[in-house]
Amino acid sequence: MGKFEHYYTKEPQSKLKVREVTLKLKNGHEYNFKAASGVYSFKRIDKATRILLDHMSVHGKSVLDLGCGYGAIGITIKKEHPEMQVYMSDINKRAVEFAKINAKDNNVEIDIRWGDVYEPWEGMKFDMIVINPPIAAGKKVWMKMIEEAPEHLHDGGTLQVVAFHNKGGKRIKKFMEEIFGNVEDIWKEGGVRIYKSVWKR
Ligand SMILES: C[S@@+](CC[C@H](N)C(=O)[O-])C[C@H]1O[C@@H](n2cnc3c(N)ncnc32)[C@H](O)[C@@H]1O
Repeated sequence: MGKFEHYYTKEPQSKLKVREVTLKLKNGHEYNFKAASGVYSFKRIDKATRILLDHMSVHGKSVLDLGCGYGAIGITIKKEHPEMQVYMSDINKRAVEFAKINAKDNNVEIDIRWGDVYEPWEGMKFDMIVINPPIAAGKKVWMKMIEEAPEHLHDGGTLQVVAFHNKGGKRIKKFMEEIFGNVEDIWKEGGVRIYKSVWKR
């Protein structure tokens, strides 16, 4: 990544490097993705991403993978649960480009859009929103991802967020409780937790 470029840069200009990364689920299934420089998780699939995929609670018919990077979460959900409608978006153009390439390579149909937080999904609601949040982008961003989630959830829908509990996760959990009035840890592993809030009108 260039000196002034972060993984949440809107339009990365850094020289493009691509590598193949493999995700191994606890059920033994393996998926391959093209990871791009300038996009989160270039060297390998993030531990938090794998934990979320192994232990989140899957329900309903639709899921939004917000801040999808090169698409590991949404694509894996679609492979494991082909009956679900999957939606993904990211602010980083290169991430969106690679999410589209990876969806095609993995033979799945996913609605993939570019934009800031929920801006690409105006007026749309989902049964699940899953997020591996961009903590480095600052609290304004992750707070918006949580604060505006209820507008995009059906009644009974869930927001599921994965984070390192001692590296920002604690504050995220507290904020989910404030916005939803409920939050629980549905999984804890090696410092990583999955927090789940249910939207009840
Ligand atoms: C921690 S990474 C997770 C990427 C991917 N979901 C994964 O698990 O590998 C967070 C993602 O959020 C994206 N992001 C940062 N700010 C954003 C914003 N304002 N709107 C949408 N996505 C954003 C980043 O570009 C990055 O891809």
